[in-house]
Amino acid sequence: MPAAEFPRGSASGDRAIADAIGRWFAQNMRVLPWRLEPRDPWLSLMSEILLQQTQVARVAERFGAFAEQFPTPAAMAARPIDDVLKLWSGLGYYRRARLLHACAQAIVERHGGRVPDNAEELRALPGLGRYTAGAVAAIAFKRREALVDGNVSRVLLRVHGVDRAVDGPGVQPWAWERAEDLASAATDVARYSEGIMELGATVCTPKAPRCDACPVHSRCRARTNGLVDRIPRPKSRPERTPLAITAVVVVDAKERVLLERRPDKGLWSGLWQPPCVERDAAAPLSLAKSLERLGMDSAVRVGGGSTVFDFATTHRAVRVRVWRARAESAARARGARGRGAKWMEPGEIGEIGLGSAQRRMLLAAGLAGRG
Ligand code: ADE
Repeated sequence: MPAAEFPRGSASGDRAIADAIGRWFAQNMRVLPWRLEPRDPWLSLMSEILLQQTQVARVAERFGAFAEQFPTPAAMAARPIDDVLKLWSGLGYYRRARLLHACAQAIVERHGGRVPDNAEELRALPGLGRYTAGAVAAIAFKRREALVDGNVSRVLLRVHGVDRAVDGPGVQPWAWERAEDLASAATDVARYSEGIMELGATVCTPKAPRCDACPVHSRCRARTNGLVDRIPRPKSRPERTPLAITAVVVVDAKERVLLERRPDKGLWSGLWQPPCVERDAAAPLSLAKSLERLGMDSAVRVGGGSTVFDFATTHRAVRVRVWRARAESAARARGARGRGAKWMEPGEIGEIGLGSAQRRMLLAAGLAGRG
């Protein structure tokens, strides 16, 4: 990578930057439920996995319940995955719930229930990539480990005045090198590490950054060159592929709802949903064909019209058409869907792991999922 495009810091400059960020963090950190002193490694790990792809405010609302139900890896490992999915409901990216559960089990099996205190062993656990392993090692164990996420990448690009996208060619290797140098230079690596994430989340924000509140504004190339609004360049967004779903929400004479589990792999893995037919297309399959595919054409009676809503996941643009139906016979309707299907009382629905899209399917059929 050409040096002028991807500048390096100096040892003294890096120390000044890392320590300014660390001091700023000590005075300005948001009060968050996992920021206990001293840090509890398991709560740090759990918070970092929850924070992957989910906003701090949403995780903060839920974290108390996670800490209460799963205060240790052993407490989580002893519980069925459904208990984790239930708490995860609505937070998205449900694969993380399975990985966190597997991670708790691995900590019990491999490390006697104690979170390992170094990045290498952390990285070997399910669900922990380079970033999360670095974050837990640095924040909970004060190891001089680098961490780079989207927020950190943006701060580094701006401080060094690198006019590129976060996912541009060469940017991530450069950012990791810079982060390693800063972690080595910091007087207090834990404060610096969490501080640079916090700075990106609260001050050096994508839009309208608050440069006057920034502890490194005098060293920031983007600011001195008037490029703060331009750096980072927008990411190149992959197109979302269309997915069309026909959902049939079936209710029986006792007002119970027929739900079934999605497969353990792929989109929304393991979540509950009404019977659905999916296809890689923009428009959902017709009702008649969907009922036939579901094996339910003679078991249910569809009443009224349908409702359509759109839903975006990271990779898919999903269009859902929802039909509401009555079971002619509860046993036959369930039988058509096989052993994975279950009649659930409305009160029970709030107790299971429902994703946002699945909750919207039930709402569209006039049934309240948990809010
Ligand atoms: N984003 C992910 N982890 C974080 C943390 N520990 N502090 C602030 N923002 C974060």
